[in-house]
Amino acid sequence: MKARILILSLALIPALMTQVAAQSTGKDLYDANCKKCHGVLGTPPKALKAKFPKLAAFDAAFIAKHSVDSIVTILTKGKGEDMKSLKGTLSPAEMKSVAEYVKELATRPRAAGE
Ligand code: HEC
Repeated sequence: MKARILILSLALIPALMTQVAAQSTGKDLYDANCKKCHGVLGTPPKALKAKFPKLAAFDAAFIAKHSVDSIVTILTKGKGEDMKSLKGTLSPAEMKSVAEYVKELATRPRAAGE
């Protein structure tokens, strides 16, 4: 019985690892392509907010209004003058994982102004 539980838990490890890998890809892509404007945790730094007044924070209110698909659409088409399309930079799969990371960012607790 014990052996069976052990085998079962070993079988779960690859599944868990894939999930971790997918998340770190989303984070890596975000850090490389989005962080400089949208901020480490999805709240734009003050200087950028001054430069781009329309820059939204990825907070609970934002996430309530945006699905992963709608974020992917923004990434594909761009938005306004300053949010460029990332079509040539990210593959559709990469856009999806970065969009999932953006959704996840909003669920993180953060300090005021962070
Ligand atoms: C050059 C700075 C810059 C970079 C880099 C950038 N963005 Fe943006 N982003 C903006 C600005 C400015 C807006 C607001 C555009 C508008 O509403 O006119 C915006 C808007 C958005 C929106 C829509 C917000 C809304 O209110 O509808 C999403 C989603 C978004 N960005 C995600 C990303 C992601 C994900 C990345 C990285 C893959 C990224 N952005 C990279 C500047 C940037």
